[in-house]
Amino acid sequence: AENGRQAWLRFAPPSSSRHPSLPSEIIALNGSQTSPVNTAGQELQNGIQSMFSRKLTVSQTGKKTSSAIVVGTVAQFKNVFGSSPVKGNLIEDGFWLNVRGNTVQILGQNERGALYGTFEYLSMLAQGNFSDVSFATNPAAPIRWVNSWDNLDGSIERGFAGASVFFAGGSVKSDLTRAAEYARLLASIRINAVVVNNVNANFKILTPDNIAGVGRIADAFRPYGVQLGLSLDFASPMELGGLSTYDPLDSGVISFWNNITSQIYTTIPDFAGYLVKADSEGTPGPLVYNRTLAQGANLFAQALKPHGGTLMYRAFVYNQLPDENDWKADRANAAVDFFGHLDGQFDDNVVIQIKYGPIDFQVREPTSPLFANLLNTSTAIELQVAQEYLGQQTHLVYLPPLWKTVTDFDLRVENKSSLVRNIITGQRFNRPLGGSAAVVNVGLNDTWLGSHLAMSNLYAYGRLAWDWTDDPVDMLQDWTRLTFGSDKTVIDTITQMSMESWPAYENYSGNLGEQTLNDILYTHFGPNPQTLDNTVWGQWTRADHTGIGMDRTTSNGTGFSGQYPPQVHAIYENLETTPDNLVLWFHHVNYTHVLHSGKTVIQHFYDAHYEGAETAQKFVTMWESLKGKIDSERFEDVLFRQVFQAGHSIVWRDAIVNFYHNISGIPDAAKRVGSH
Ligand code: GCU
Repeated sequence: AENGRQAWLRFAPPSSSRHPSLPSEIIALNGSQTSPVNTAGQELQNGIQSMFSRKLTVSQTGKKTSSAIVVGTVAQFKNVFGSSPVKGNLIEDGFWLNVRGNTVQILGQNERGALYGTFEYLSMLAQGNFSDVSFATNPAAPIRWVNSWDNLDGSIERGFAGASVFFAGGSVKSDLTRAAEYARLLASIRINAVVVNNVNANFKILTPDNIAGVGRIADAFRPYGVQLGLSLDFASPMELGGLSTYDPLDSGVISFWNNITSQIYTTIPDFAGYLVKADSEGTPGPLVYNRTLAQGANLFAQALKPHGGTLMYRAFVYNQLPDENDWKADRANAAVDFFGHLDGQFDDNVVIQIKYGPIDFQVREPTSPLFANLLNTSTAIELQVAQEYLGQQTHLVYLPPLWKTVTDFDLRVENKSSLVRNIITGQRFNRPLGGSAAVVNVGLNDTWLGSHLAMSNLYAYGRLAWDWTDDPVDMLQDWTRLTFGSDKTVIDTITQMSMESWPAYENYSGNLGEQTLNDILYTHFGPNPQTLDNTVWGQWTRADHTGIGMDRTTSNGTGFSGQYPPQVHAIYENLETTPDNLVLWFHHVNYTHVLHSGKTVIQHFYDAHYEGAETAQKFVTMWESLKGKIDSERFEDVLFRQVFQAGHSIVWRDAIVNFYHNISGIPDAAKRVGSH
């Protein structure tokens, strides 16, 4: 259990034969108990003891630098030693790491940066890397958040790893040990804030008792440099405040939010800000009063502004679509329809939080076109580490390759290079704010996410939020060494399984730009292709006896393709230039349509589902080959999940191929389907 909870922070003795000459003491340049620099001193002491069985002393006042680790801020270092050794420019949360034999300097632009540098140094040692280094590094963006969809009763919406680490029985838990451990994990991957409650927010989060309670969570986070944020219920002025309205322009409503915000800042002076889901899936919002979403967002932004807080406003706003008979109805259009015309009307401290695709965390989606429609508004991408539609942690799906299809996508705004990663960091449109949020939903389970292997996604999310150009294999292999050790077979095997995992899942769960063909109505788990069409959720495939796919062209369809800048629009508008992996997202074609690959759509369905399930079978034998190289507890736990995935992938395969065989009546050229 300990191995799971420690995740990538086990600090096991490195296997490398060359033993470093260790520094002989640690100097942490800050006296305060709750400061991240104090935490850094302790982490260095514990980490080095656990890896090398040597306990170094930690002091705050040491005067020497040689044969010591000095950790602190640049300013603190200058106070004690006179001048700064840092080469290069540091911005907020950035750090300088200088290792010369057993003389080490770890200096942050702020205290949080010093802690980040500490974890970087420990991670090097844990991977057996004892070389000299000297570099400055800075975050790609200031917003590197995670969201937890935790309810006050302790349940978690789309949580797959037990109950909440924050809440139970309507209030904040008295034991926040796991909350502090979570903050430690997050600090080590340079995440700087957690929104702790569900986006489908309960107004009771704002009662005096609960504000005091979340204050205790913030206290548990603070030594790790992690800030706390809250999701809000837009109707709280009515439900909690007893007002007759929650109209964002009403003066009573404005004072309600100003008062609540001041109360929060009194309890939590370093409060990060709010996250708001409004006018979506039945939640209240400004549209109820015919106010714009910008007026709704600015209400909170103005309450936060005097305190320096940020408002994350979600772009996941859509109405249910009752009528699939309307060929032009399309939920994918919603974000740009609702937000596009409001560009420039949001206050400076508003960030629009945009899901990576236009629908909802599907196995493949085109990049949300909203990123190309907000040029005078700060934006952040919303990713999902919780594998809601992607097997809910019972299937191995390493997500960075999926995320990269979006963050590396070039939207060609004004016919110029416009990579999504350069838009969200603020670089492309010169915005002061921006970044990312990932829905993680850890729980009390000892593995945090329900699966040991799923933790590579959380680790990689942190790395990417810092540097969107980081490589999926590099991140994975660092994570593997830290989690399971440096055995070459272990690293090669986990690398191969992980890198094949998303393509395999796509193959058996929904390919060619169909959505994930799981149960849409309730669970979002397991195959249920018949639930996609004829529902109000608008996640339609328009499968009938002759053809399949949503026509999203401007010439004949829903017009979605026209939400992209001209160069991208042109690619998706035409069947010939649309890549196979998105063909059914953008076009309605016959099952006999021949793809670029040379196969028909229906034969591709059959082949891909067999291929994907076959890959999942292989994962079992691959994992079994690691027996004896991984402690038996984690080995057995992962094996159990791989066996489940192997079986479930066959359930997926058969459900989907039979569904399309029945509906199309077209036989499988390889005679596997419908022939028994
Ligand atoms: C998905 C998910 C919901 C969630 C929603 C959101 O639809 O299934 O549980 O509330 O996304 O992101 O707001």
